[in-house]
Amino acid sequence: MKTILTGIRSNSILTLGNYLGALLPMVRLANEHSREMNVNIFVPDLHSIISSVDGNLQENIVRTIKYYLAAGLEINENVHIYRQSYVPAHSELCWILNCVATMGETSRMTQYKEKSEGRDSCNVGIFDYPILMAADILLYSAEYVPIGEDQFQHIELTRNIATRFNNRFGEIFTVPAKTADQVKFMEVDNGLRIRDLLNPEKKMSKSTAAENSKIMLDDEPAKAAKKIMSATTDSLGKVKYDMWAQPGISNLLQIEALITDVPLQDVISTWAGETRYGDLKKKVASSVSGMLSEFQEKLAKISDQQVYELFEAGEKYANEVANAKLAEVQKAFGLR
Ligand code: TYM
Repeated sequence: MKTILTGIRSNSILTLGNYLGALLPMVRLANEHSREMNVNIFVPDLHSIISSVDGNLQENIVRTIKYYLAAGLEINENVHIYRQSYVPAHSELCWILNCVATMGETSRMTQYKEKSEGRDSCNVGIFDYPILMAADILLYSAEYVPIGEDQFQHIELTRNIATRFNNRFGEIFTVPAKTADQVKFMEVDNGLRIRDLLNPEKKMSKSTAAENSKIMLDDEPAKAAKKIMSATTDSLGKVKYDMWAQPGISNLLQIEALITDVPLQDVISTWAGETRYGDLKKKVASSVSGMLSEFQEKLAKISDQQVYELFEAGEKYANEVANAKLAEVQKAFGLR
């Protein structure tokens, strides 16, 4: 059986960018495929500690899984939910892959370059983070890894490491699909990147200080609607999807398509040529606030207990699968 796998760091409340770019696509794919594929959803808690954590990490971990359930994730025997640090094979394989990956390829990762620029005190975890991510994926032979566009480079790195390893030791790892095929599998037109509402050249990120630049999943729906109404647009006066010339308007069209689950091309056609940006903003504001009310209502009904039960079953499964793959790798290197 093929495997779909993804993880979201739980350093804080998540943004609408995480929700629309990764969580919702994963939930839709999981519900569509979990009868014929394994669906692994894990919390990369070891990735969380590379940077500061807002609030309590344990609470954040549990809340991240509640988000998937509130977004409609259906549970069956092929859906596996686990915490990375409860499956020690992840760290073990990370070390082994450190001895396969090169400093050159890891240094080229954009996220590392951005986070470390001009800082000698940058921790080694930030540098090594994509190798741990490769271990997360390769341990479970995952073919599809639904993620936002900012993570594509890490998938390509994972593919390179797996291919190099297989060339040396034989076909031990499943090489995940190319990013172009990942995008096709996710049924989106291109990689997803929800933009900062005030500065749409940048991605929406929880670390941006300006409150109105991002929508957090615990924002009051009315407050979120106001943020959409005050989003930066342009002075061209015509609704058109053009990420280069009109990133603010294109972002709103993208948000509307993802929330209403209508193909982006159809949303673009509906609004083509419209001159009043206010009308588009009102529609998107209403979609976002409606989505948040429903989501927050569902979230409040999910208990911690439900999540811990999922972890118990998921971690038993994950340890079995991961340890078996780790043993193959250890044998290949002569460690066993
Ligand atoms: P993280 O926690 O930074 O982000 C989680 C997911 O949210 C997506 N995302 C966005 N998508 C669209 N628009 C945005 N503005 C936006 N902001 C965030 C990210 O692309 C990501 O999919 N390294 C990963 C976590 C991870 C992982 C893995 C993922 C660790 N191991 C193995 C997949 C498979 C990360 O830090 O994502």
